[in-house]
Amino acid sequence: MVHLCVNIDHIATVRNARGESEPDPLHAAVLCELAGAAGITFHLREDRRHIMDEDAHALRRVTKGILNMEMACTDEMLNIALAVHPDQVTLVPEKREELTTEGGLDVAGQLARVTEMTHALMEKGIAVSHFIEPDEVQVHAAQKSGASHVEFHTGVYARHFDRNRQKALQELDRLQDASSLAHGAGLVVNAGHGLNYRNVTRVARIPFMTELNIGHAIVGRALFHGLERAVRDMVDLIRQADHPAEED
Ligand code: PXP
Repeated sequence: MVHLCVNIDHIATVRNARGESEPDPLHAAVLCELAGAAGITFHLREDRRHIMDEDAHALRRVTKGILNMEMACTDEMLNIALAVHPDQVTLVPEKREELTTEGGLDVAGQLARVTEMTHALMEKGIAVSHFIEPDEVQVHAAQKSGASHVEFHTGVYARHFDRNRQKALQELDRLQDASSLAHGAGLVVNAGHGLNYRNVTRVARIPFMTELNIGHAIVGRALFHGLERAVRDMVDLIRQADHPAEED
């Protein structure tokens, strides 16, 4: 069954807009799990624009399901991850000037560095996922590095979904092929970026899909309907995708 990890970064974005303590990402994490999320995802960025170091440690204490920390491949982040000890680290590319993560990590292009980071985390019992494009070269590199998981970047699929369905479906084919390849290589398959209430079903139906990481759409809906309802709506869509007979 595909499960949902809610990315709560933008709860912290709203908090930081005023430099105060509310809304509290910890409250969000608890509500998300009560509403059916299997876990919580956060991205500790180099510029600390949303989640801060103290949040990461506090999230470790309150999260009962999977705690997934997204981070860049740096020594600073490695040390923090070893101290926080999330269940899973997702290695992502990071540029200071970007609004959000813009694409997958080039694992093949920096295999030695990524392998070293992956081993350092895995030997402490932390699962390691690589956020990559649905691309054969990157899947093989992730396997070589010893990662346990990959997270396929769904941003291209999501961007085209409402504007150019044909292109979105072409990208969905790439995601499906990459998922089968990764599964065959012994990697657990996750996906995320840009997923929302309209486009999630097809991704949740990709064979071997395990975990979806979704943030912006859920936090956006929460503004109108509340966080619990926003999470529940997403969990229901993912569940229905798993049981197409109920929906069709
Ligand atoms: N997965 C990764 C690796 C990400 O960097 C992000 C954004 O922080 C997400 C998933 C969630 O993307 P979105 O906020 O568009 O749902």
